[in-house]
Amino acid sequence: MTCLSDSFQRPINYLRISVTDRCNLRCVYCMPEEGIPFLNHAEILTFEEINRIIEVAAELGITKVRITGGEPLVRLGLTSLIRMITRIKTIEDIALTTNGILLAEKAAELKAAGLKRVNISIDTLRPERFQPITRCQYELGDVMAGIKAAEAAGLHPVKLNMVAMAGINDDEIIDFGRKTITDGWNVRFIELMPFTSDGQADARFLPVTEIKKRLDPLGKMEPYKHTVGVGPAKYFRFAGANGTVGFITPVTEHFCFNCNRMRLTSDGKLRPCLLSDKEIDLKQPLRHNISQEELKKLYMEAVKMKPRQHNMNEQTQVKRPMRQVGG
Ligand code: 5AD
Ligand code: SF4
Repeated sequence: MTCLSDSFQRPINYLRISVTDRCNLRCVYCMPEEGIPFLNHAEILTFEEINRIIEVAAELGITKVRITGGEPLVRLGLTSLIRMITRIKTIEDIALTTNGILLAEKAAELKAAGLKRVNISIDTLRPERFQPITRCQYELGDVMAGIKAAEAAGLHPVKLNMVAMAGINDDEIIDFGRKTITDGWNVRFIELMPFTSDGQADARFLPVTEIKKRLDPLGKMEPYKHTVGVGPAKYFRFAGANGTVGFITPVTEHFCFNCNRMRLTSDGKLRPCLLSDKEIDLKQPLRHNISQEELKKLYMEAVKMKPRQHNMNEQTQVKRPMRQVGG
């Protein structure tokens, strides 16, 4: 099997799948506090439909799959989807991005079903800040229990995503950095993407240069290469640390030149780029008995639509927010 490349000779071997637009949190950078109208059940793809798409994608060179949301663990029976994907022999890596709230109860069964690893979003280490940031009835302790359960289940490497925001959690950047030394955490600092800001400069935005400055007191960082999950993050390690720090810089340094991914939205649209509204609908064709061969053609068409790069600074408005596209 040869891996499909896009029009700019980038091999496309990674598919991110959003299994729901729903979430049990309302993070300040993602959802309005009052919530949003969610898609109803009939509008989202069934696991069987998702599995058919992955089978086709696997034939065209996809070897890595990531399950995202919304919050993927609020979708009932997710473990059975993981089990289906595990049966596709050429899929080498199945990962999940979660807010961790439901992970304590599900980590072991997900691992048993074939899930390899998780990324967990955590933007504060201070219990009293958890509610202001996530605007929900859960607690930081729930996420911490999720992290522990993921580690105990062997969902390695557990990576922790922290969206760094000026005036909200930037005073904790150093605490997260220290956790890589004291607790072996793998922390990734993410620049805030202005998805909800109608094109206005977001005062909470913190460029990576500033994020790095807050880590200065911890000493020098050496570049580090993770063996699994090569993505847009650049990794480093402090002297004596078991864990790593990573930086994801969608705003100040785009990483489109080695983008290897496609995205599937929960309502069945194949999207070649997070920041472009171009998409191809697979749901209607699937519900009208399309053949695997025809599905393959639609998939290849979407790959060919992949743009060379985005320019987030010029065009910050995309119609679909992150929670629908899956990060
Ligand atoms: N800017 C930066 N990161 C975001 N995430 C969600 N919305 C945004 C945004 N506007 C993060 C989540 C999660 C990852 C998939 O994307 O916190 O860790
Ligand atoms: Fe939910 Fe993730 Fe959005 Fe937070 S960022 S509201 S956890 S989907």
